[in-house]
Amino acid sequence: MKIISVVGARPQFVKLAPIAKAAAVAGVDHVIVHTGQHYDPMLSDVFFQDLGIPQPTVHLGVGSGSHGVQTGAMLGALDAVFDEHQPDWVLVYGDTNSTVAAALSAVKLHFKLAHLEAGLRSFNRQMPEEHNRVLTDHAADVLFAPTSVAAGHLANEGLADRTVVVGDVMTDVLMLIRDQISGKPSALVTELALAPDGYYVATIHRAENTDDPGRLRQIVDGLAELDLPVVLLAHPRVVAKAAEHAIDLTSGSLIGHAPLAYPDLLAAVALSRGVITDSGGLQKEAFLLRIPCTTVRTETEWVETVDLGWNVLANTKEEIAAAATRARPAATDAAPYGDGDAATRTVEWLISH
Ligand code: UD1
Repeated sequence: MKIISVVGARPQFVKLAPIAKAAAVAGVDHVIVHTGQHYDPMLSDVFFQDLGIPQPTVHLGVGSGSHGVQTGAMLGALDAVFDEHQPDWVLVYGDTNSTVAAALSAVKLHFKLAHLEAGLRSFNRQMPEEHNRVLTDHAADVLFAPTSVAAGHLANEGLADRTVVVGDVMTDVLMLIRDQISGKPSALVTELALAPDGYYVATIHRAENTDDPGRLRQIVDGLAELDLPVVLLAHPRVVAKAAEHAIDLTSGSLIGHAPLAYPDLLAAVALSRGVITDSGGLQKEAFLLRIPCTTVRTETEWVETVDLGWNVLANTKEEIAAAATRARPAATDAAPYGDGDAATRTVEWLISH
């Protein structure tokens, strides 16, 4: 049994970690292909080191570019990789350009395609990720959905017979790391001399928030005016766009900081007053750590976090201020993202089909 995993961007490395572990336990021949979509060490290498992921067998080194250039370069290179390795399954993760490139290459070459984290929908057709998700779901032979809501979206698109609800693999990783960091100090809190429960953690990177200078300025102003220090863990995209438009990422309450390694991120979030983000994964991580989240978007794929009161959508400067400073939500023991065994379920399903 040979499985090829194709990954390329930061959140995919997190999702790969429990799959790689489950594949090793099951004795699967697991080939890891890194497209090179993310190449900065803090967005890539550090995840392989900290999460104990084996080094990629193949690195395509594709790098940045427009959507077409980036996706096209991956597509051409992946054809040759799949052809050489002849996998039983190609496994793709999430919603990035690496996902859709690998999906297209696999199905055109008649390799069986599995999509992990299938069925997420924002219903926002301006998001590149929404197209990547929909196209990949419709191409794939099996759709591993993280939640019943995601499975419902797939059923509405006529894909129920290809859907398997396995739970959320990011929850697998979080549960593992949460136990490892429990009771340990946060490197970020120490470095910046922050008071526990006395700061926010923020990340902004989505094109719809960064690429329009007026929009980026509104978000940065909203963060800068908050009542406590706001540590902005700045993705290269936001750094580049802020520099281009002379937007100061250190004004007011803002403290600009490089992205963190995954265990350091969780430790910093766990001690914070709240998270303000447009990341998908971080909304869920905040919820699982029971830290209130403010999501700087008009919609979210992780609707359970909103329904349970731990996540609030905020679009304007005023909405960000109101949401971030709101009272702590009611405690809940709801577990909509599974029990931490999603990766094992996924690998076992692939082995038996
Ligand atoms: C990508 C994914 C997004 C995911 C995010 C996680 C797509 C369409 N988007 O967005 O779904 O949530 O990753 O971070 O696939 N850059 C660097 N160094 C890097 C990587 C990127 O400097 O290591 C810069 C480049 O200037 C690049 C820009 O960031 O043009 C954006 O990178 P890209 O991979 O296109 O998308 P992300 O914004 O990272």
